[in-house]
Amino acid sequence: MERPVKSIHGEWTSRWAFILAATGSAVGLGNIWKFPYITGENGGGAFVIVYLACIAIIGIPLMMSEILIGRRGRQNPINTLATIAKEENRSPHWRWLGAMGVLTGFLILSYYSVIAGQAMAYVPRAFAGVFEGVTADGAISIHKAIVSDPERLLAWHTLFMLMTMAVVVRGVQKGLEKSVRIIMPLLFIILLMLVAYGFNTGAPFHQSVDFLFATDFSKLTHTGVLTAMGHAFFTLSLGMGAIMVYGSYLPQKTSILKVSVTIALMDTTVALLAGLAIFPLVFANGLEPGAGPSLIFETLPIAFGHMAGGQWFGGFFFMLLVFAAWSSGISLVEPIVVWLVEIRDITRLRATVYAGSIIWLLGLLTIFSFNIGMTWTLFGMTMFELLDYLTANIMLPLGGLLIAIFAGWTMKRSSTVDELGMGDGWLYSVWRTLARYITPFAIVIIFANLIGVLN
Ligand code: PHE
Repeated sequence: MERPVKSIHGEWTSRWAFILAATGSAVGLGNIWKFPYITGENGGGAFVIVYLACIAIIGIPLMMSEILIGRRGRQNPINTLATIAKEENRSPHWRWLGAMGVLTGFLILSYYSVIAGQAMAYVPRAFAGVFEGVTADGAISIHKAIVSDPERLLAWHTLFMLMTMAVVVRGVQKGLEKSVRIIMPLLFIILLMLVAYGFNTGAPFHQSVDFLFATDFSKLTHTGVLTAMGHAFFTLSLGMGAIMVYGSYLPQKTSILKVSVTIALMDTTVALLAGLAIFPLVFANGLEPGAGPSLIFETLPIAFGHMAGGQWFGGFFFMLLVFAAWSSGISLVEPIVVWLVEIRDITRLRATVYAGSIIWLLGLLTIFSFNIGMTWTLFGMTMFELLDYLTANIMLPLGGLLIAIFAGWTMKRSSTVDELGMGDGWLYSVWRTLARYITPFAIVIIFANLIGVLN
């Protein structure tokens, strides 16, 4: 197997197209739905610090590793790893790492799409003023009415999957790139509007800044640390091949270091801004920051229902969530589609239909977790909670660990110097040290800590 010089699927038209697309992948439900609620559940400040440290120490070097592997192999994650391993005279079994990534994509999108569907269901409701003057019980019952009805959830999940497939089917330039060029600017405008509003609520803004940045490490648990690390992977879309495949469309001369830092910064900024837009509302209305996954769907609407212009604010907020989820959903299917096209030699249309249908079907597990299957639990978790825990806290960090080992140990120094294209100076050495030692070490320690090996 020779290493292709170009991906058969196309190439981004510029460095910025790649940055937008990868940021679109990174910025998603993770930033706006998940980050605020896990921060709330884990007590705020100290959790945020661990998360930021994970982004810097594990996230950025790993993003560089994934992009460099992707651009060097220029195929689906499985063939990419196999081709590079062969070229480096290493075991062909590295392909299994790619396979795990493709599988992770299936699993994540299956529940991701259902949550995005809920956000979509909220857009017309918010604009129509359904939340006006709503009480806590009222907000819960509006949410319950949606999630307790499998048919409704299925309808929104189907719509989200169709929207995602409609983009992916059009290919790299006409689909992926074109969509993020529209989605991302809109997303930033809406977000800034919302933060400005949160800022104007006065005192609670400071309270939120305190909540997000005060460092009370006594509130941090082992699970909290694992959650922070898992979230760093999830939010940057690392450890499953999405960024690898996006990297396979990257022009040869682009600096991998610069794009990685830019993407990580933008993603982190959005998460923090989302926190600064959401927590002032939570505090101003005396609501509970640790409400869990329903923070966005049950707590926030109460705030929207009691503020001037809340109808618009709420409507735009859920629109923001849908846009963010859309550009991430695209990147979750892309690796699967590319893989199907390459191994089955079928058209992109067919591959998208196959991948989309399977994910759509898998989504039923999550849908049922909120209603008829609420009691189907394993290890005390519903199917949805299990999928989330398994993918975000285990599969992505494990994938990330192996990707770091592949880039740091399996590939020859000369190959990574060549692909990163930033010379062999101190900057390169920093990356290599992080990829070889620090990233794997940090991931292993956090895993070991969780299983209790260290206590
Ligand atoms: N990064 C996305 C988010 O934060 C989720 C995602 C994970 C997308 C893995 C692609 C791959 O919502």
